[in-house]
Amino acid sequence: MKKKILCVVGTRPEVIKMAPVIYELRNRSWSKVLVLATAQHREMLDQMMKVFHLEADIDLNVMKHNQSLSELTANLVQKFDRVFSTEKPDLVLAQGDTTTVAMAALVAFYHKVPFGHVEAGLRSGDCYNPFPEEINRRLTAQMAQWHFAPTRRAKDNLLKEGIPETNIFVTGNTVIDALFFMLAKRNNATNLGIDDSKKLILVTVHRRESFGRPMENILSAISLLAREFNDISIVIPVHPNPNVRKLVYNKLNNQKNIDIVEPLNYEDFIHVLSKAYLILTDSGGIQEEAPALGKPVLVLREKTERPEAIEAGVAKLVGTKTEKIVKETAKLLNDTKAYREMAKGISPYGDGRAAIRIADILETMLAE
Ligand code: UD1
Ligand code: UDP
Repeated sequence: MKKKILCVVGTRPEVIKMAPVIYELRNRSWSKVLVLATAQHREMLDQMMKVFHLEADIDLNVMKHNQSLSELTANLVQKFDRVFSTEKPDLVLAQGDTTTVAMAALVAFYHKVPFGHVEAGLRSGDCYNPFPEEINRRLTAQMAQWHFAPTRRAKDNLLKEGIPETNIFVTGNTVIDALFFMLAKRNNATNLGIDDSKKLILVTVHRRESFGRPMENILSAISLLAREFNDISIVIPVHPNPNVRKLVYNKLNNQKNIDIVEPLNYEDFIHVLSKAYLILTDSGGIQEEAPALGKPVLVLREKTERPEAIEAGVAKLVGTKTEKIVKETAKLLNDTKAYREMAKGISPYGDGRAAIRIADILETMLAE
């Protein structure tokens, strides 16, 4: 009998990081995969599903404009409950640290269905940084049966929390699988009119803990850099979260050297990433992808749960203060040696084979 696996996706990065796992499981004769989209993100989820040629078998359509975490949580719990009751999966599988993932793990636990956690064990050690993701991860770990840790450090974090070693597997991060997949077919990328004569700086911001003053500080730094350096061009694909969008347009609209664009599909984003000189971001996934492409990353956060790239010297935590962001960016623009030291192309997060490992492990585990 085939094993029924519900692969849950809610937001943009979950589609990107689950796509390789979904493809791999669909190739296995023992598995029947159903894609359950919560649509915690609507437009951005649809955009990524299209790029990866995926269709949802079930769509919970939970996104509401600027919804609160509590409203989202309550809605997810009720809707998961109904689906798990009717579908009776053998396994629920999800990636990362969103509210979709933590609630999928909780309801799977209530239904006594095993939960597999992709990208398990990331920890910043601070429950408000990133918020609410750090707690989402810790909750998920307590409820998951199998933990697919991207790195040895992530495994150690889980061991410290009492997760049995037999249930933890170091697989690499599936984002590197997705990145390699997209690099291979990148030729379809839209012509985005990038000015090759200038140094391209790619910027993304969206973290909840940065809403308000920290995000204003970040955007002030971007604005200052655009005015100070004539030989740079800044591209900022703006997240649709209204708390982000409003600030970005208020601070950066119609400014010389700055292009505010809509969220890019993954193919286009990887194209821009590979053309970039430097990345400024608070994103989790981009901290993993940029080192794999040899692009230095300045991390616009006070804490990160991805210290591996920082320790390898290819990413730097610069926080959310204007002065520090300007100083660190200017250094990489002015000092070729400092730039080269960060553009080493060390990729601590995976080798592009994580999804194969996850499918192999699940085959063994589900057979037992
Ligand atoms: C969510 C995740 C975060 C992840 C990020 C990836 C939670 C609590 N947060 O943050 O961990 O890093 O996604 O991008 O799980 N919106 C749209 N269209 C979209 C997506 C969002 O309009 O396609 C707007 C809606 O008004 C929505 C709001 O953004 O209510 C916030 O979306 P939400 O998923 O709650 O949080 P994010 O900030 O996107
Ligand atoms: N990304 C994209 N288009 C964009 C911005 C980001 O395809 O305009 C991709 C990026 O390559 C990465 C993922 O989206 O794989 C990161 O998503 P986000 O920053 O929203 O979430 P996080 O990783 O912080 O949870």
